[in-house]
Amino acid sequence: MATATTSAGVKRRIDSLRTALRKHDHRYYVLAEPAIADEEYDRMMRELVSLEKDYPELLTDDSPSQRVAGEPLKEFRTVVHATPMLSLANSYNEEEVHDFDRRVRSLLGNEPCGYVCELKFDGVAVSLVYERGKLVRAATRGDGTQGDEITQNIRTIRSIPLQLRTAKKILGTVEVRGEVFMHRDDFRRMNEERELEGEKTFINPRNSAAGTLKLQDAKIVAQRPLNFYAYFLRGEDVQRSSHHENLKTLTKLGFPVGEHSQLAKSVEAVVDYWKHWEDHREELPYDIDGVVVKVDSLRQQKKLGAVAKSPRWAIAFKFASRKAETILKDITFQVGRVGTVTPVAELQPVFLGGTTVSRATLHNEDYIHELGLRPGDTVIVEKGGDVIPKVSGVVKKKRVDGSRPFAFAKKCPVCGTSLFRPEDEANYYCENSLCPAQVKGRIEHFAHRGAMDIEGLGEAIIDQFVELGYLKSYADIYKLKNRRSSIIALEGWGEKSVQNLYDAVEGSKKRPFSRVLFAMGIRHVGAGVAQLLVRNLPNIDRLVTATLSELQNIQGVGPRIAESVERFFKDRHNLSALERLRKAGLQMSERQVRVASGSPFIDKTVVLTGTLDSLSREEASQKIEALGGKITSSVSSNTDYVLVGAEPGSKLEKARKLGIRTLSERDFLEMLSSEE
Ligand code: IVH
Repeated sequence: MATATTSAGVKRRIDSLRTALRKHDHRYYVLAEPAIADEEYDRMMRELVSLEKDYPELLTDDSPSQRVAGEPLKEFRTVVHATPMLSLANSYNEEEVHDFDRRVRSLLGNEPCGYVCELKFDGVAVSLVYERGKLVRAATRGDGTQGDEITQNIRTIRSIPLQLRTAKKILGTVEVRGEVFMHRDDFRRMNEERELEGEKTFINPRNSAAGTLKLQDAKIVAQRPLNFYAYFLRGEDVQRSSHHENLKTLTKLGFPVGEHSQLAKSVEAVVDYWKHWEDHREELPYDIDGVVVKVDSLRQQKKLGAVAKSPRWAIAFKFASRKAETILKDITFQVGRVGTVTPVAELQPVFLGGTTVSRATLHNEDYIHELGLRPGDTVIVEKGGDVIPKVSGVVKKKRVDGSRPFAFAKKCPVCGTSLFRPEDEANYYCENSLCPAQVKGRIEHFAHRGAMDIEGLGEAIIDQFVELGYLKSYADIYKLKNRRSSIIALEGWGEKSVQNLYDAVEGSKKRPFSRVLFAMGIRHVGAGVAQLLVRNLPNIDRLVTATLSELQNIQGVGPRIAESVERFFKDRHNLSALERLRKAGLQMSERQVRVASGSPFIDKTVVLTGTLDSLSREEASQKIEALGGKITSSVSSNTDYVLVGAEPGSKLEKARKLGIRTLSERDFLEMLSSEE
């Protein structure tokens, strides 16, 4: 039994751990400025969990350890919103926005009126209710009047504070509304992993966020990469007199708020904002489907009121649709590297979001059946979060006579082997590992950007090299140097392009072991699982000899992954390819890097351009990676720094356009020396 003093001491320790963990959650998930290494965070969390286990009377709901709590629900409770969750009237062109502005000003008796422009996040609206500063209830919009209570699920989103960040005590109710959404990259990664697992993939980030919030098991929700942006605040203790001030208060209270909101004094400024984002939407890491324009003054908002389900003080100014109707001419099949047979829609070409689309993915048999698709149908094609367009619906009333339901292929379209669909999976597989489509797919996967990143070794060249017999396995990539004269003799090749390819192949030998493991294409081992594996079994010999139970003991590795890894390393073809990769000099163990917590490169994505004076690109890359950074080859909105050497390429221009921080060689060397 703890004495009064020890438990007072324990309580103080628990409080201080909670405060520190809350601060680091906020820094990591809201500000994207982590201040400590993951290991340090994990250590504090473990200490907190263990103290709370020993002193259950000190456990509280708003503890950072209690993000994922509670049993799976049988059904969601219904909650009635304190004030209805309205939706926005839409406008699609400048004229309609001018109409809105005229209406607003005339209703306000021509008082001066300012607007706030925000991005219209393409996600799911939720309401969060805080009592005495603590999150007590979260709900979906539902029909606007009442929605589902999804508190358990919302608590798992680490950018949402369980407790408001404020020094003063807030006694009354505070309601925050905002959008739950998913970043495109996270969505893609998640879908890739799901595809590998043979699970159903989601159509776009919005569907995926919506589907996730409807799950009854918060443990699964916690594994999904959900984000949140707050855009509405209500509460006597905290509310200010204008919307833009409310957004600032939301930031202070610990919420992530979209960083691109802007005050607009005139309707012309609103239109400029809309035009800017219509042009730049692809540079954001998440989807938006327009902008939202809101009257800034809350007094004026109140005066304007609402009609039916929409306020008169705000309007959605949407972008041109990225959906189109076209004809589904046929359904064909593509065979992937692990033998997955994916149906593909062959479409009457249609112009959509800046490109002509003639093919779209259909995922799997169930997806086709759910849509009720038939060749010849008029379909809706959508460009969502992914660059790959999707067929998202059928216009049944336009169905032609004589069309027939679609039957999935029975045989592999490439090698003719009978297809097999495991009972608990959505995919069909061709089980012939020598099927040419699989051979090409495995090599493509090995060389692609997320894996060994061999620039110049793309799909078309791999196809050609496989057909010529130069590549039978990915290990042959490292033997291509023996075929210099035959490659130069091929059409489209010359000394320079061959040398570039060889340099890229050589450069790939520096990729870390986890990437090599991912590149080898073990079924169910995506990039994330590969990292988990190497963190626990840091060299190839440990991995090859790991027993099933050793593998399964790794947190995050279930029986399916463990069996697949074990099976992979029992196969003699795989072992011989592995031996050849080892001989070629690829990384076969993980360097144990200890990164100082203040490293300027922790979790930062860096792009190099131009030539550096004092060190080679490889050396610079290695140093950045050793300090916890990541090197990528092209500049995007996810890039943190662009390191600029002499004669920089177009990457510098792009960085400037996107407002990404550039580092000169001197800046870089200074950053390095501050680490030593
Ligand atoms: S304000 C009454 N702001 O758009 C105003 N909504 O039809 C209520 N949305 O259900 C919403 N981004 O899901 C607002 N910056 C933003 C938004 C936003 C996305 C969504 C929200 C809402 C729908 C309106």
